[in-house]
Amino acid sequence: MRVLVIGGGGREHALVWKIVQSPLVHRVYCAPGNAGIAQCAECVAIRPTDLNALADFAETHNVGLTVVGPEAPLAAGIVDIFESRGLRIFGPSADPARIESSKAFARQLMRSAGIPCPEFWICDTPTEALDRIREYFAARGPEARIVIKADGLAAGKGVSVVQGEAAAQEAVHRIMSARVFGAAGDRIVVEECLHGEEASIMAVTDGKTVVPLLPSQDHKRACDNDQGPNTGGMGAYTPVPALPPPLLAEAIERILHPAIAAIYELGIPYQGVLYAGVMITDQGLQTIEFNCRFGDPETQVVLPLLQSDLVPLLLGAVDGTLEAVPVQWRDSAAVGVVAASGGYPGDYEVGKVIAGLDVASTLPDTLVFHSGTRQQGDQIVTDGGRVLTVVGVGATLLDAAARAYDGLGHIHFDRMHFRKDIAARALKLL
Ligand code: AMP
Ligand code: GLY
Repeated sequence: MRVLVIGGGGREHALVWKIVQSPLVHRVYCAPGNAGIAQCAECVAIRPTDLNALADFAETHNVGLTVVGPEAPLAAGIVDIFESRGLRIFGPSADPARIESSKAFARQLMRSAGIPCPEFWICDTPTEALDRIREYFAARGPEARIVIKADGLAAGKGVSVVQGEAAAQEAVHRIMSARVFGAAGDRIVVEECLHGEEASIMAVTDGKTVVPLLPSQDHKRACDNDQGPNTGGMGAYTPVPALPPPLLAEAIERILHPAIAAIYELGIPYQGVLYAGVMITDQGLQTIEFNCRFGDPETQVVLPLLQSDLVPLLLGAVDGTLEAVPVQWRDSAAVGVVAASGGYPGDYEVGKVIAGLDVASTLPDTLVFHSGTRQQGDQIVTDGGRVLTVVGVGATLLDAAARAYDGLGHIHFDRMHFRKDIAARALKLL
């Protein structure tokens, strides 16, 4: 079978890396891919949001399965287009993809399905938002923390966790009046701020059967000790000691299953990945968000531990036969550290030569997944904010982290920065 993967980040590199190992697959394309993906698949210069061009490509190249990485094409209806043309594609259609593309839709679904989540208020005007915020601080005191979210997609940057009423007002102003996220800020969700360890639980589903993947933990802040601005994710690890098996089972029972059932009741079947971002608070599990796709960088640490073939799992979701698909995991740990361009998540320069890739990728139990990279002559240069993820696999989180940081130690580019504390809290907990 021929497989087309859509996207060009570390998540897609990990997907391609795993898919090419499948005996069911003889050719893998990736649109648009990156310099690392080009080493194991055929890259195609089509943008992920050029939906009709992607469908044309899949049709003319006899692609038997298309796998969508990022959220934007899902929200724009790529699955609807492919399905209307009789093309097999892994991912939810645009309607259920609102579970990620609209924070208000997601919160309303959680409330109606009884899924544990913080108190929230959906606001359509700045006045309404400022009223809710005033009431919030009147009830909880001036030092309280609050969360302000743009309703629509904002590349992972639409969420502000702030302290005090003035900062909350400022966040509302930025989103709704200055419109820094454009139309994504036409509506906002104001939320109670929760505290605790976060975990990412991705599950593959055909709308009935739910196959959870190993849980992982992302590190969203740019700097060590969770300081600095939110990013797309600076590193991840699995397993998550803060989410032992009984708590994971509870999350699947109380969060993932009811969400899929609630979507089913709306008459809009869900197939693909449902990703729950959860928080383990003193009051128990709470749901932070849902995503309608694989996480990045979570996928880079989870897939290396998947012993069985990924492709039957993807096909089972598309074809509604997931129940019969066997899944085996390696009893190991994985830690992934993202190397980013200086300045990310703000402005950064690209085109910096990356040294040491060949050495790092030949180290034992070390994988280098590319994100923003491109080939320039015989060199590989940076081409994005997040540049690559180095993943170490080992018997324990400690071994895995040592491998990842050892691998990263061989890689260099001008103004490269990375967090030095990926998995550190988990290691302390152990
Ligand atoms: P989201 O895009 O909704 O996952 O939000 C990005 C990040 O903001 C999350 O990973 C959390 O760290 C933080 N966050 C979002 N909602 C809340 C909340 N209600 N309480 C505390 N932190 C939150
Ligand atoms: N790493 C967070 C995400 O993929 O949304």
